[in-house]
Amino acid sequence: MKNASLIAIDGPVASGKSVVGLNLARRLSYRFLDTGLMYRALTMVVLDTNVNPEDHERVVELAKKRVIEVVFGDDGDALVQVEGHDITSQLSDVEIDRTVSLVAQVAGTREILVEQQRRVAREGPIVMAGRDIGTVVLPNAPIKVFLTASSTERAQRRHLEFQRNGRDITYNQVLRDIEERDRLDSGRRIAPLRPAPDAHITITDHIGIEEVVEGILKLMGGS
Ligand code: DC
Repeated sequence: MKNASLIAIDGPVASGKSVVGLNLARRLSYRFLDTGLMYRALTMVVLDTNVNPEDHERVVELAKKRVIEVVFGDDGDALVQVEGHDITSQLSDVEIDRTVSLVAQVAGTREILVEQQRRVAREGPIVMAGRDIGTVVLPNAPIKVFLTASSTERAQRRHLEFQRNGRDITYNQVLRDIEERDRLDSGRRIAPLRPAPDAHITITDHIGIEEVVEGILKLMGGS
């Protein structure tokens, strides 16, 4: 098996990064970090303090002042803390969903969070998911995967998830939100969403989670 203690998984909203990453990490007994949680945690702080997400200077000030930390539970899953309080379960709020792409465009905040992500990666084997893991955060990761699916397939998945959680939102609204976030994440100047040149691109419209996980294990040379 290839000595791949760093596995980078990138892709757009609802492409399956988190569920694939988590399952893969469990199979390998690696830690798993969905870096989107860190951008979401900062967005929660921005919203709570009524800072305008487009006021880059104030957003960076907040990122420096409020300590966002990642800690790992015994199962290898990441929990995100703001000043010592675990806020992981609060990060799928609809307002955070709508604002996070704006906060993630701020260069100064990316520098701070990317540095933290690299530090976490140095602490041991990890599967890390995000938008720029293979291109910016861990460009030397030996295994890079770019997961994607059509926006309609991703909207269907996300809508189903929202329905299960009792969130009242139409499919068309979910599709519009996803397309807007894709536009912002792919169009931004710094670390835009795109596959690394050496990433394995996997289109997940018609394949299940297990199959994607098995495919990555095969890339590693064993299963
Ligand atoms: O994966 P997610 O939906 O939780 O990510 C939330 C936002 O954070 C997404 O719109 C883009 C941003 N993000 C990023 O810019 N870089 C990352 N490595 C992870 C997420």
